[in-house]
Amino acid sequence: MCGIVGSIGFKNTKSFIIDGLKDLDYRGYDSAGLAFSFGKRINIYKAVGSVSNLEAIIPELSLNPYMGVGHTRWATHGKPTEINCHPHQSMHGLFTIVCNGVVENYLQLKQQLQSKGFKFVSDTDTEVISNLLEDRYFETRNIMRSIEETMAVLTGSFAVVFIADMDPKHLYFMKRHSPLMIGRGDHFSLVASDASPMVRYTDKYIDLEDDSYGFISNDDVEIFKNGEKIPFQFTKKSPDITVKDLNGYPHYMLKEIEEIERVIRRLMVEYYDKGEFLFDHELMRALTESDHIVFVACGTSYHASLVGARYFDILGKSTSTHIASEFAYYPQFPGRKPFFIFLSQSGETADVIHCMTTVKEHNIPCLVLTNKKGSTLERGCDFSLLLHAGLEVSVASTKAYAAEVALLALLANAYSNRKEVIRDLEECCGVIADIDQNLKGKVHEIAEELKHSKDIYFLGRGFDYDMSLEASLKLKEITYIHSEAVAGGELKHGPIALISQDTPVIVTISDNVTALSMRANIQEVKARGAKVFTFVTEPLANDTDTIVVKNHKRYLSPVVMSSLAFYFAYYVAVLNDRNVDKPRNLAKSVTVE
Ligand code: G6P
Repeated sequence: MCGIVGSIGFKNTKSFIIDGLKDLDYRGYDSAGLAFSFGKRINIYKAVGSVSNLEAIIPELSLNPYMGVGHTRWATHGKPTEINCHPHQSMHGLFTIVCNGVVENYLQLKQQLQSKGFKFVSDTDTEVISNLLEDRYFETRNIMRSIEETMAVLTGSFAVVFIADMDPKHLYFMKRHSPLMIGRGDHFSLVASDASPMVRYTDKYIDLEDDSYGFISNDDVEIFKNGEKIPFQFTKKSPDITVKDLNGYPHYMLKEIEEIERVIRRLMVEYYDKGEFLFDHELMRALTESDHIVFVACGTSYHASLVGARYFDILGKSTSTHIASEFAYYPQFPGRKPFFIFLSQSGETADVIHCMTTVKEHNIPCLVLTNKKGSTLERGCDFSLLLHAGLEVSVASTKAYAAEVALLALLANAYSNRKEVIRDLEECCGVIADIDQNLKGKVHEIAEELKHSKDIYFLGRGFDYDMSLEASLKLKEITYIHSEAVAGGELKHGPIALISQDTPVIVTISDNVTALSMRANIQEVKARGAKVFTFVTEPLANDTDTIVVKNHKRYLSPVVMSSLAFYFAYYVAVLNDRNVDKPRNLAKSVTVE
């Protein structure tokens, strides 16, 4: 969600900026732009839509620009138009800036600047920063002081990179809460929202701290905080980046669904060896000593956390689960010794980061399950467990969900020292392989039958309800068909009013404890004319069931049954000609609150 790249002194500025923006496209965006500085002249190019649209309007360059900044924008303030696209220039053209984040007090600042005569051309909060810098510069005639005074009045989150017209030898930055990294090379410096655009050119990174600012040049980096120059260290560790490659698949989503089995096998290798779990002893001690586990996450990761909470509930541990954006405003610290578990595929979700900051302010230990080594959450939490799912490109998360649930199963079983989890996960892998090879064709047939539906309902109880929530989210994310997940028992408390002739209802039954009640639910919706499709495990199946999945442990059914749901959403999206990997209005990594 908004990506930034910049370079100074680099041998091919245009290709670094364009390729870098493409590397960041997993963050989601709806327009892209860049600025090249040739010393005295700054050229700006902007395009709505893909980075390729931007690339297409840049003319052949006879000179390599000495520095450049690029940006992919995911619209928050103002529509995705060329005018709102970054970079933005201050009114008199002194500052050309790109920004990722949200300036909360931008309206108030805008009014103040307007009353001083500043004119605005866009609806963005970023233009407010460019004019603030300019206003401060007119006052101070000093770029660093202008940055300090600008940062002092901004509230919210931002990562800003800018070119100052009066100083063509430096590229400036300032950062609070939104991620920004610097990369140093031989006579060049780079800056980007994460390391992915830089890995091909350097392995020397600086992870910028909040409230830091400064500049890069071809052979120097200077970082400041509160008016003082601060020391920094390069991290040499190359980040965990896997090459983006469709490998013959038509879409990343399909590729990623079919990687689930491999991801689970990898997790077993990473966290279990020679008859022992490999979780950090300090982590296990902190879990044991805690009297309440609080799960916090967003979207798909939140759905995985519901399953994780059930695992610990079953073990007698008291738990609660929260949507991060809710917890952010109503934080709760239950028990005498709470322990927090955050889940985030990207490790960069702003709402979750906000919660982590609050939890840390209270000195409460926390763990994150994430797919991104070196991400903000991975660095910020006391403990971290990697999902080892490899790069997930498709905006709709699939293999990361499976990895989150499988890793929580490993953790909960390690907590109770139940090693049979390995055998259970092995069995689960076999069942998923069977779905991949033998059952997805049947799912395709259901998708064909339901592709023109206006609404599709998912029904389940217990683990099947948790999974249905994810099934429903996946469907609406990529097909734009309205969908709801309903807990079987809640049906008659409202949602059944929505069932009429031929309403599609997909029922999951994998739990013997709730199977009979689910069969009763099927009768209830059928009596109102619903068209019912069932996903059922072998021992609970009968002749009328639509898809019968091999037997496996019920606690792992969210991992297994979600594969069916992912295929279903995928096929419905493809049959409707949707942009499967980049659904409208959504971003892979939501870095604004
Ligand atoms: C966005 C993505 C979802 C994801 C959610 C949480 O909304 O589109 O696929 O589940 O963010 O992301 P996280 O990286 O924190 O798991």
